[in-house]
Amino acid sequence: MSLPVTAKVPFGGDYNPEQWPEDVWKQDHRLFDSARIDLVTLGVFDWALTQPAEDVYDFSLLDRIVERAAAEGRGICLATGTAAHPAWLAKAYPEVTRTDFDGRKHRFGRRHNSCPSSPVYRRLSVELARRVARRYADTPAVVAWHVGNEYGGACYCELCADGFRGWLRNRYGTLDDLNAAWYTTFWSHTFTDWEQIEPPSALTEHWRGPDHTAFPGITLDYLRFSSDAMLANFHDEKAAIRESSPTLPVTTNFMGMYRPIDYHRWAAHLDFASWDNYPPDDESAARMALTHDLMRGLKDGQPFWLMEQSPGVTACRDVNPLKRPGLMRLWSWQAVAHGADAVLFFQLRASRGASEKYHGAVIGHSGRSDTRVFREVAELGAELDRLGSASLGARTPARVALLFDWDSWWALEISDGPSRLVRYQQVVLAYHRALWDAGVDLDVVAVTADLSGYDVVVAPALHMLKGDLAQRLEDVAARGGSVLTTYLSGRVDENDQAFLMDVPGPLGQLTGVRVDEWDARGPEVVNPVRLGDGAEAVEVEARLLFELVIPQGAQVVGTYQADFYAGTPAVTRNSFGDGDGWYVATDLDQTGVSWVVRQVLARHDVIGPYPDVADLESAVRVAPDGSRLLFLLNHRADAVEVPARRGGVDLLTGDRIWTGSTMRLPAYGVVVLKEDW
Ligand code: GLA
Ligand code: ZN
Repeated sequence: MSLPVTAKVPFGGDYNPEQWPEDVWKQDHRLFDSARIDLVTLGVFDWALTQPAEDVYDFSLLDRIVERAAAEGRGICLATGTAAHPAWLAKAYPEVTRTDFDGRKHRFGRRHNSCPSSPVYRRLSVELARRVARRYADTPAVVAWHVGNEYGGACYCELCADGFRGWLRNRYGTLDDLNAAWYTTFWSHTFTDWEQIEPPSALTEHWRGPDHTAFPGITLDYLRFSSDAMLANFHDEKAAIRESSPTLPVTTNFMGMYRPIDYHRWAAHLDFASWDNYPPDDESAARMALTHDLMRGLKDGQPFWLMEQSPGVTACRDVNPLKRPGLMRLWSWQAVAHGADAVLFFQLRASRGASEKYHGAVIGHSGRSDTRVFREVAELGAELDRLGSASLGARTPARVALLFDWDSWWALEISDGPSRLVRYQQVVLAYHRALWDAGVDLDVVAVTADLSGYDVVVAPALHMLKGDLAQRLEDVAARGGSVLTTYLSGRVDENDQAFLMDVPGPLGQLTGVRVDEWDARGPEVVNPVRLGDGAEAVEVEARLLFELVIPQGAQVVGTYQADFYAGTPAVTRNSFGDGDGWYVATDLDQTGVSWVVRQVLARHDVIGPYPDVADLESAVRVAPDGSRLLFLLNHRADAVEVPARRGGVDLLTGDRIWTGSTMRLPAYGVVVLKEDW
C-alpha cells in the first residue's frame, strides 16, 4: 500500500461546504475549475453532522457534498471526521474529555479534545470510521482516507493512567525491571505495585511545567505512551476502514517537527505520510526544507502529501503576516522539490464564522476570483497541470543523512542539566542549515534507518544512543564515510541512564575523544573558537555549552580561545577505518557550523550546483522513468543568474536550456529543469 493513484500532482485542499448554503456550492466548483483544483478534502470535522445522536447516523448532507464533488470530476480525500467529538457525546460520557497536565478535567469544547484511552471514544470513533468507509468505499472519486486530524497533546486522566500501566507492563514485564529502568532507588521511588504508578504531571513529578521532572524515565515513558495511545486510535480507525476498503491509501496529517508525537513510531502504520506546513515567518525556507525531508524520510523516501498550507494568512497566531506575492507559489514548489506529490491548502473557501473566519482561503467571503490570492492559486494550478505526472513517485537521490530522533529530543529537553538553553531543534536546524546552504540533497531519517547507502551521516545532539546505532555509525566511517556528531551526544541509553564510561559513551571509539567535563554558560558568554590552521584559520563564536575534550587519537581541528580551557579542543576529526568521525564539542555560531560541515563534505562529492549563491535552493528528484528533475528555488527578494550545469527543458515554461547558458530566476522564482542525461 502506498500513495494514492493520481494522474498528476493533486491540487486543492480542505473544503467544508457543510458550513454554507448549497446554492454557493455551484459557485465554489466554478471557481475550482478556473483554478484547476482537482482534489477536495472533505469531512474533517463532521462528527456532529454525521452522527447527531448516539443512535442516529445521517450522511445525507455529506452524500450530497461527495456526489457533487465526484460529478464535477474532483478527487476526494475523505476524512473519518473524528478529530472533534460532538457535544452530545461529551455530555453523555464525560470520560471522553481530557484531563490536562495540571489535573483539570475538561468539559466539552474546542477540538482534538478526546481522551485517547477512553473506551467510549474509541468505540464510537471507530464505528464512525467504519460507517464512513463502508458508505463511500465504492465511490471512485475517493482516492485517499484521512483519519482524524493533527493528532497531538496529551491526557492525564484515570483511564490514561490505567492505559499507561498496561503499556508499562507490556514494556517491562516486571516491576523489578521497571524500577531498574526508572532508577527508582533515587528519592525513595521504588514501586511495589503497578497501581502506585501515576502519569507524570504537575500533581506528581513535575514542577515549572512539562519539561521539569524529578524522574525523566517516567516522563519519557509517558511521552512514548501518549504517542502510542494516539497511534492506537489511528490504527483502530484504519482497521475499521480496511473492513470495506482493502486497498485505498490511508493517512493522517502530521505537523512536521512536532514534539509530542514520535512520527517515526507512527510511520509504518500509515500508507503514506502527509503534513501541514505553517511556517512561523517568511525566513523559514531552510526549516521547511528540513521538515519536508523529515516527512519524506518517514516512509523510506516515498513521496508525501502536502496536506495543508495557507494560501495567504493564518489566524491562530497573535500576529498573522501575509505571504508576500510569489511566496505561496515558491513554497509549494519547494514542497514538490522535496518530495510532495500533492499540493493542498487549508482552506478552499473561508468559514464565515468561528475562530478561523480570518484564516486565508483560496476563495474569500466575497466569493471573487479577481483577488491576488485567487490569481496566484490559479496560476499555480496551471503550472501543476503543465508538470503533469513528471514528478509523481520521484525519489531524492541523497547520499547524506541527517539523523532525527524524538527520544533524543525528549530526553535532552526534560533533563536537569547541563543546560536548559540547548534546544534540540536549534542544534538540528543549525547543522541542517549548513547542509542546505551547500545545496546537498539529503534524507532526514530515524536512528533505526539503514545507513549503508550514505557517504555522510550528521547526527546533531544525539543525546540518547539506542540499540546498535553506534556500531552502524562506525560501519559508515569504516567503509570510507564521514560521521559528524556534537556536544550532548552519546550521553544516555534508552532508559535515560548515563553510560558507565567516558562521554560520548559508545561513540567514543568513532570520535576518538573523551569529554572530561562541561561548562554551561548564559547566552551572553562567548568563547571564541579558532578553526583550522595557518593562513586558512578562522575565528568564530561558541556559546551555551563548552565540553572539555581530551583527544584519544583524534586530531584537533578547532580550539577554544578563552577561559581556563583556552587552547583545548572544541572540534576534532578522528580517522576511523577508511573514513572519519567528527566531534563538535560546543554550540558554534552558524559560520562555525557551516565551516565544519564544509570540511566534512569536502571529501565527498555531494555539494549542490550553486553552493555559493545564498538562498538559491537546489533539490533533485529522480522520476520512476529515470528522468532527473532539478528544482531551483530562489528564496531571495532579488533576481539571480546562474549557469546551467546541464542542459534540459524547463518544465514550467517549456523553454530549452543549454548547458552553460545563463538561467535567470526573478525574485522568488522557480525553475524545474528536466535535465538531459
Ligand atoms: C490546522 C488544521 C486545520 C486548520 C488549520 C489552520 O492545520 O488541521 O483544521 O485549523 O490548522 O491553520
Ligand atoms: Zn485520558
